[in-house]
Amino acid sequence: MQNVSLWALGAGIASVASLWGGHRYRPLRALHRSSAMVVGAFVLVHLAGHVAGIFGLAMHQAVLDVLRTVYRQPVLEGLLLGCALFQGSSGLVLLWRGRGQRVGRVAWLQAWSGGYLALFLLVHVGAVLWGRAQGLDTNFHFAAAGLHVPPWQWFFAPYYFLAVLAFWAHVGCAAYWNVPTRHRTVALGAMLAIGMAMAGVLVAWLAGAVIAVEIPARYLGSYPS
Ligand code: HEM
Repeated sequence: MQNVSLWALGAGIASVASLWGGHRYRPLRALHRSSAMVVGAFVLVHLAGHVAGIFGLAMHQAVLDVLRTVYRQPVLEGLLLGCALFQGSSGLVLLWRGRGQRVGRVAWLQAWSGGYLALFLLVHVGAVLWGRAQGLDTNFHFAAAGLHVPPWQWFFAPYYFLAVLAFWAHVGCAAYWNVPTRHRTVALGAMLAIGMAMAGVLVAWLAGAVIAVEIPARYLGSYPS
């Protein structure tokens, strides 16, 4: 697994570095879109697995176990982690390159949601890999622990809320530019509504407000209180 992650890290950095040159800006955008298909498909089922958790942790764990049999196959996981790393870093490059060219609220929403998602992806995937290197099972308790050690909930609640909202906002902006003009506002509005609702439910779930939650001590130790 660690070899695969190192390969993914190298591949991600190399792809961004090789595409940094200004005249090669368009291929970077095209690759960013292609990689978004892989990362976006994963995130959709990933979030669906979390939503299943509102029916109980056993349900969440059952879905996670099934999903892991797919994305923890070394080749698939290497591809996913490489795409996630590339997605985040290429997104930051595009954000920087496009400064001064953005016109209108949707373009700005796309930029801000993408910027947040890029940083979230890099931190989130880094945290998962770090947790696994510590021998922790990166399950619900791993994700929720930060919301159960004051004052860390003030960081983790907005951190997860904005991640889920930013994902749907970013998808909504992509939909906005690609549907017939008369459907644009409805498409973006629907994605933002789904994002707000899902973000609220998932943060409440992680915080133990939807189902009773008890976090094992080994997950709490990494947070100084
Ligand atoms: C409430 C929101 C979220 C929670 C609680 C959460 C939690 C987790 C957990 C526990 C894992 C480890 C899974 C495992 O061990 O199999 C994980 C992995 C991951 N998450 Fe999230 N996640 C959230 C949102 C997101 C979002 C919005 C993205 C993308 C933008 C994302 C991208 C990933 C990726 C790429 C992995 C790595 C998968 C792998 O192990 O190969 N997550 N997340």
